[in-house]
Amino acid sequence: MLELNINNEIHQVEAPDDMPVLWVLRDLLKKTGTKFGCGMGQCGACTIHINGQAMRACITPVGVAKNAKITTIEGVSRKGEHPIQIAWKENNVPQCGYCQSGQIMSALTLLENNKAPTDEDINNHMSGNICRCGTYPRIKQAIKQAAA
Ligand code: FES
Repeated sequence: MLELNINNEIHQVEAPDDMPVLWVLRDLLKKTGTKFGCGMGQCGACTIHINGQAMRACITPVGVAKNAKITTIEGVSRKGEHPIQIAWKENNVPQCGYCQSGQIMSALTLLENNKAPTDEDINNHMSGNICRCGTYPRIKQAIKQAAA
């Protein structure tokens, strides 16, 4: 039995230590805000935070998250009141929306360390989050708004 702190709630799950966190979140706990994209650590759709660090849930074994604080998109604000969620809405960022929870989770770690990111900072930090709809200009705009 594993005990996990997810969005400040304690969850007990029956899962082997090597099961990817993404499977635990989506399949065992039905927290489906975190998305499955490539399953190989390359697209960023599954980005979550573990102890404040952006991590790829599809390639992170749940064993490493024991005694850690996991934050998913559901933990940002359920009512959509976080400044980054407001900026995302006001800039109409999503098209299909599939990658956007991962985009937001990555953007949050950028803004945590950089209160005035340049285009280059944003491009560098967000380069691991792929959007097949090409919403990159709106993502950039929203990150700048959230930073302001
Ligand atoms: Fe994890 Fe693509 S689903 S990086």
